[in-house]
Amino acid sequence: MQLLKHLGLPAIAALALIATGACAQSAAEPMALRGVMQQMDHDAQAASAAIERKDWMAVATLASLLARHSEPPMSERMRILGWLLTDATTFRNYDKQVKAAATQLQTAALKADAAESRAAYQRMQQSCDGCHNSFRAKYLDHFYGNKP
Ligand code: HEC
Repeated sequence: MQLLKHLGLPAIAALALIATGACAQSAAEPMALRGVMQQMDHDAQAASAAIERKDWMAVATLASLLARHSEPPMSERMRILGWLLTDATTFRNYDKQVKAAATQLQTAALKADAAESRAAYQRMQQSCDGCHNSFRAKYLDHFYGNKP
């Protein structure tokens, strides 16, 4: 990437190049994003349960994990960006919304504010769903060959 930048190739061309090369890899091997999602799902469900039992320290901790969740390694991020191209901003914005709502959930939990915690949790969930509705089927089709 660094080298390509120095050569002055436009970023999109560089991404497309990497994406094409990466697509030749085995399609069956699960990508890191799935593990990231499974962890986020676990943390979100645990946060929801913690809200219901008003365990605010647990909610705050889980919300903070969601707000700074892990990401796939650089090579996989490049591969996904190379596929997203002009949709990359929309995709990233859903993730930013998840992180923003998780941060608001953390703040609400630290105030032991049940109503605001529920509202922030709902906003987070809507952003998870928004990205899934827009991208998940296409993503699975492209990277795993699953026909919707
Ligand atoms: C920026 C887009 C985006 C956001 C935001 C997002 N996801 Fe995902 N999610 C995906 C994509 C793409 C897949 C398909 C990945 C795969 O199955 O390999 C996926 C798959 C999943 C899966 C299925 C994993 C499996 O084992 O099949 C779960 C569960 C999940 N997401 C939970 C969440 C939760 C919970 C949130 C919010 C806290 C969230 N996601 C936010 C894009 C997103």
